Amino acid sequence: MNIVVGVCGGIAAYKTAHLVRLFKKTGHDVRVVMTDSAQQFVTSMTFQALSGNEVATDLWDEQQEAAMGHISLAKWADWIVIAPATANTLSKIAQGIGDNLLTTTVLASDARLALLPAMNQQMWASSAVQANVAELVQRDVVMIGPDSGEQACGDVGAGRMVEPEQALKELGEIWHQSWSGKLVLITAGPTLEDIDPVRFIGNRSSGKMGYALAEQAARQGAEVILVSGPVALKLNHPNTDLIHVRSAQQMMDAVQAQLESNEFDVFIGAAAVADYTPIQVSEQKIKKSEHVSDEMVIQLKKNPDIIAGVAAHVNRPQCVLGFAAETQDVVGYAQSKLARKNLDWIAANDVSQSEIGFDSNENAITLIGKDSTHTIKQASKTHVAKELLEIILKDLEGSIHE
Ligand code: C5P
Repeated sequence: MNIVVGVCGGIAAYKTAHLVRLFKKTGHDVRVVMTDSAQQFVTSMTFQALSGNEVATDLWDEQQEAAMGHISLAKWADWIVIAPATANTLSKIAQGIGDNLLTTTVLASDARLALLPAMNQQMWASSAVQANVAELVQRDVVMIGPDSGEQACGDVGAGRMVEPEQALKELGEIWHQSWSGKLVLITAGPTLEDIDPVRFIGNRSSGKMGYALAEQAARQGAEVILVSGPVALKLNHPNTDLIHVRSAQQMMDAVQAQLESNEFDVFIGAAAVADYTPIQVSEQKIKKSEHVSDEMVIQLKKNPDIIAGVAAHVNRPQCVLGFAAETQDVVGYAQSKLARKNLDWIAANDVSQSEIGFDSNENAITLIGKDSTHTIKQASKTHVAKELLEIILKDLEGSIHE
């Protein structure tokens, strides 16, 4: 997991050093962001040594921005954990204020957020802070602590930052609910159907949606096998295996071979599989001069339907999800596809809209299941992938509600 640890100015900042060590020891990548006042308590050197990465402190430092700018940092993070979270930073986040590197990173990120509050008991009890805490909880921000007890200022009450071991335990429980232990098979990209050694029939699929799904599922702990048609993308995650194919038949063979040898929990058909392929593939380049007529006919035959094959397989994964890229009556066609191919979910998208269609970086989806429908609003394909995975994870665990 990629974790941004945000450190605010509180005496408990020394405990955060240990928390960073625990994150690293348990296999996570950590990048630390410190507010100005945090540096009054602990030096950035401490966090640099413990995290193994340069510490970010300043929105306006050219060198820091060049190394990893705050937007890249915001995108890199799977989780942002703020410890200690002061009354000031907690309240700024609740109100959507971005006035330093940490609060700006939070605003610019779609990562999950956890706060470990630490403050004087009277501050914690204040109605302003409590209203902000309620707002954050409503937004699904994870609050860990605070503990009660004797405080650095001598007061006794709630406001101590929880111990790092306790924080790791609580976060671990949340992380564990995700995709770890799940095996996922995904198809992505176009298929190319050869006509002769230099020509083919293809389509405009970039593979971005399928790769985003593969990467997000892997980041959340799943083991992912991605069967990909020719695309210009890379997949960089240790939990992933990438199988390259070219034609629909090759994709079909690769998927069937995977189903024979593995028990998948989920299959996602994000590939834009060519519906037809030339009956004959010329061994030599077809010459214009050999054609007397100005017209040329290439005879095509239907390709196998890969996803229907998965849904009908004896080793059918528990959840089979297809995509329906349509240009008209998107939901209507998607619903009929769901039934015809015996799928559990179909992600319908309108590819006639250029900003969310083929090769674009964004998508918007209507996710149709047998009993429920969910709308995933237009956002980056990474974000759409996260939301989609969240919904099917709930389905796998039997906790989906209409
Ligand atoms: O039938 P249509 O191509 O519109 O269905 C789209 C869904 O079916 C996608 O999930 C796509 O990956 C899958 N598909 C397939 N094999 C085909 C055609 C489509 O797996 N030959």
